[in-house]
Amino acid sequence: MGVYAYFLVLLLTIYHGAFSNGGITSSFVRKEAKSIDMPFHSDVFSHPPGYNAPQQVHITQGDHVGRAVIVSWVTQDEPGSSTVVYWSQNNKKFKSTGRITTYKYYNYTSGFIHHCKIKNLEFNTKYYYEVGSGGTTRRFWFTTPPPVGPDVPYTFGIMGDLGQTYDSNLTLTHYEMNPVKGQAVLFVGDLSYADHYEFHDNSRWDSWGRFAERSTAFQPWIWTAGNHELDYEPSIGETKPFKPFLHRYRVPFKESGSTEPLWYSIKRASAYIIVLSSYSAYGMYTPQYQWLLEEFPKVNRKETPWLIVLMHSPWYNSNSYHYMEGETMRVMFEPWFVQYKVDLVFAGHVHAYERSERISNIAYNIVNGECTPAHDQSAPVYITIGDGGNIEGLANNMTEPQPKYSAFREASFGHATLEIKNRTHAYYSWHRNSDGYAVRADTVMFYNRFWHPVDDSTTKNYQ
Ligand SMILES: [Fe+2]
Repeated sequence: MGVYAYFLVLLLTIYHGAFSNGGITSSFVRKEAKSIDMPFHSDVFSHPPGYNAPQQVHITQGDHVGRAVIVSWVTQDEPGSSTVVYWSQNNKKFKSTGRITTYKYYNYTSGFIHHCKIKNLEFNTKYYYEVGSGGTTRRFWFTTPPPVGPDVPYTFGIMGDLGQTYDSNLTLTHYEMNPVKGQAVLFVGDLSYADHYEFHDNSRWDSWGRFAERSTAFQPWIWTAGNHELDYEPSIGETKPFKPFLHRYRVPFKESGSTEPLWYSIKRASAYIIVLSSYSAYGMYTPQYQWLLEEFPKVNRKETPWLIVLMHSPWYNSNSYHYMEGETMRVMFEPWFVQYKVDLVFAGHVHAYERSERISNIAYNIVNGECTPAHDQSAPVYITIGDGGNIEGLANNMTEPQPKYSAFREASFGHATLEIKNRTHAYYSWHRNSDGYAVRADTVMFYNRFWHPVDDSTTKNYQ
């Protein structure tokens, strides 16, 4: 090494030591490629054969504890039947009949959207179900979760900002092929990106439904609304926010005392999951504020040790994209997250991956000036996982230096898995699309904040 090169290395080392207090900014550089939507004629969007065949089949949890499922699908030619026939192995068949809805969006008219709730299911049981009528029925299956309880193991997949590009397809394939088998998906918002097209071409909502069906028909996806669900476009007379999303995706919001489908909660196995809306009012006295105020005290950690919150816009984001957009909601709700010892917060919106250490910034009031994020073992870990691979591409412009609380960040597409083992331990992994299916690119063993609140930070010398 020449003497100049030696000094350059020395200088870089000093610079790094002086200014980079944080965790890891991954050195992995993804090959730049254009993010484009797959064309309508792609096989992943193919229409199921047969007249009026049910398409875009998707399921979600239908009650507060996991004994009900909402089955949704679309028929394109005529209303057809809204009945779901379902049965568990070697048992008699049951029927439940739902309702049809349709909507218009500018020059688009939807197909016939069916929503049917099936109830009183046995826990921990595989069910088959059939939708459709006439000569065209389609059969799928799902497994109900075990009864809610403190030591029930359960594995969630986590995805966000999926879209319908070639990268989206890779993300979904990686989730499906992952040897860690997710049993339900926590989806943190931004589904189809139909609003990217002129007049928000809602046939891109349909193609997304057909694309995702290979997973959404077989395991529940827990939905969170993102900004690409708003479809608010006064210039073409579309002034009802969330119109396509709310017609197409139903959630069990009334079961948790919510008055709107955009914020709600469910229990599943050993987890209590709270879904919030970044794009609905959350100031004091608003319905969402009021609901969350009453919701946190209802969480019984002796029954559901793992308290997880889903939202779209992240509170702790050190990417330049969407920087500080989550700030106003953080100001309103963060003290409760610390008070009630939320374990994990998953958000999307930023098209990259980032994991924080346990952090809070709640000391500030209008006179004391104390506004520095601090290490806080009562606080959640914040994970941004808006890296599903949509048409807007990667957010690869990080703020520098990496903040101290940011444990790992990387601009790559991928998904995560959370393997809850018991009341104390949950093994978390992030998987990037560029790796093989079994590769874990970022892993942490999380310790439960109620039962085992020992320091689980991963950054060396983090304090
Ligand atoms: Fe977003």
